[in-house]
Amino acid sequence: MYFIKVLVVIICVNSRLTIGSLTMYVTAVDNLKNAVSNILSLLSMAYENCLYMQSIFHLLEIPEEYQDGKREFPSPFERIEFRQVSFRYPGTHHYVLKNINVVLEAEHSYALVGLNGSGKTTFIKLLLNLYKPTEGEIFVDGINISEYNRSSLFQNVSAVFQDFIQYPFDIKTNIGLGYLEELNNLDKIIEAAKNSGADEFIAQLPEKYETRLKKEWSGSVDLSLGQWQKLAITRALMKPSAILILDEPTASLDAISEHEIFMQFQQMKFSRLCIMVTHRFVNTREVNNIIVLQSGEIRELGTHAELIQQKGVYASLYRMQADSYEKEAAEEFHEKVTM
Ligand SMILES: Nc1ncnc2c1ncn2[C@@H]1O[C@H](COP(=O)(O)OP(=O)(O)OP(=O)(O)O)[C@@H](O)[C@H]1O
Ligand SMILES: [Mg+2]
Repeated sequence: MYFIKVLVVIICVNSRLTIGSLTMYVTAVDNLKNAVSNILSLLSMAYENCLYMQSIFHLLEIPEEYQDGKREFPSPFERIEFRQVSFRYPGTHHYVLKNINVVLEAEHSYALVGLNGSGKTTFIKLLLNLYKPTEGEIFVDGINISEYNRSSLFQNVSAVFQDFIQYPFDIKTNIGLGYLEELNNLDKIIEAAKNSGADEFIAQLPEKYETRLKKEWSGSVDLSLGQWQKLAITRALMKPSAILILDEPTASLDAISEHEIFMQFQQMKFSRLCIMVTHRFVNTREVNNIIVLQSGEIRELGTHAELIQQKGVYASLYRMQADSYEKEAAEEFHEKVTM
């Protein structure tokens, strides 16, 4: 551009043009430069956007494989059975679950334990027919789960996932959304909050159940992660569903709240199929069955006493936690004695 400008100046001097003409030519060169650079940056933006468009077209081209079943989910049901179920996420070669054979009985409680990435959440998502097994089948009372329509299955399930939603609504709506039929039934909402223990912190909020949450609202409050988690559990307790799933619901709860939730879980196990994913083995002692997943396979299955006796993975994980608690207790005791 500088070269062109120098050329323009030389031509102007040689042709004895006025300063005005010279300024016009130099400005014209500048404008040309800006226009060319704009065209180039627009072309590069268009190219970048085309890359995204390709992904969208690729997504839209995937044929819809899912067909909703015709049957109504049985209420009450008796058992859910995983038969030789293996699963890998589309586009990956690694099997996240391998040869899972297990029977989950109604009105029993199960704890799903295992290290991070062992396939616990994926197991739950298969159970809820959110994913289809790559191999094998899941049966509910002897009929393939894909034959039931999803909405009737979901009507029978309450679930709290690790990535639960924090709705920017007031507290009562946040809870009521768990069971739309009772969305405005404050008595039911308060009862569920009492059961989950959320009632205590709600009572201390400025407008109790009317308190608006999240900063989107003026005069609203935001909750701690543990309080949000209690609210999500309360939402799940609203619905009198036959299946209750809690995927690490107590990760951010304090020891007392965790104990209270677990006692609730214990009480419910006689009326619902309860499945709790947990890393805290203090919670697993009372459940009917503990399923230990390791690298996508069921390594051990049984009650707490049986698995401790087997001296396998569960027993060593349990011991590891118990030892650290004992060590902490011993240190605390030592501190108290030496104070
Ligand atoms: N959407 C996905 N696409 C591809 N792979 C996935 C996806 N979700 C999970 N995985 C893989 O599947 C494996 C099991 O994941 P999953 O979430 O079931 O584990 P988890 O046992 O629930 O772990 P955590 O204790 O951390 O919650 C992991 O190795 C993960 O990388
Ligand atoms: Mg998980």
